[in-house]
Amino acid sequence: MIFAHRGLSGRFPENTMLAFEAARKAGVHGIELDVQLSKDGELVIIHDEKINRTTDGTGFIRDFKYKDIVQFDAGSWFDTEFNHARIPHLEEVFQWAKEDHNELVINVELKNDVFRYDGMEEKVLTLIEQYGLRERIILSSFNPESVKRIRTLDSEINTGYLILGIHANAIKVAQNIGADAIHCQKEFAQSIYGIQAIENKIPLRTYTINRWSDAQSLLNQGVEVVMTDFCDEFVSNYQ
Ligand code: G3P
Ligand code: CA
Repeated sequence: MIFAHRGLSGRFPENTMLAFEAARKAGVHGIELDVQLSKDGELVIIHDEKINRTTDGTGFIRDFKYKDIVQFDAGSWFDTEFNHARIPHLEEVFQWAKEDHNELVINVELKNDVFRYDGMEEKVLTLIEQYGLRERIILSSFNPESVKRIRTLDSEINTGYLILGIHANAIKVAQNIGADAIHCQKEFAQSIYGIQAIENKIPLRTYTINRWSDAQSLLNQGVEVVMTDFCDEFVSNYQ
């Protein structure tokens, strides 16, 4: 499967409704997005802990109330034609996903490895239930404690343990925390550990793959998902 990493982020401002809608229109199988918590505990979609890189504001997302977060321009940094783009609430994406007949998979990455956002797992799970989307959701995190917490709260929801580079103990950690899959880079997937994971029926979902030739060899190898910034290109190659 092909997932749009932060939406169609190679052509639209990442983690915005514009990027998600463009990915859907391209016919992608799923989208990946990042969530953080605002000062007043709202689930907002943004990759960095700070708003500096992808908006016209400065500071940490956790220091702003949601009502202030939506004032920032989340598109002009990419191109001024996108100056109306805003930081979305996770609820906005769930509402959009519910109305979508393509039944896109949504991979919500909980960005709680830099700051521990207390209660984030509960909030995300509550919203998933509210929108009846559990069959279409994958929850992932670089923080093994967070994946473990999700598994404690929900024994069935699909989860992924995110790793960086070649991590020799990833399979063991993933099994210990009850993750369904390992979300990894190409280097891990192609290493002895990645091969072992696939042999042991532990799905690998890879990021961020921007060359179709890499995607092809990973998919041929048995990788379940490739996440890319250019899902439009990948979808046309895939068909
Ligand atoms: O979820 C896969 C990938 O997005 C993890 O890295 O830094 O792009 O969030 P990053
Ligand atoms: Ca991510």
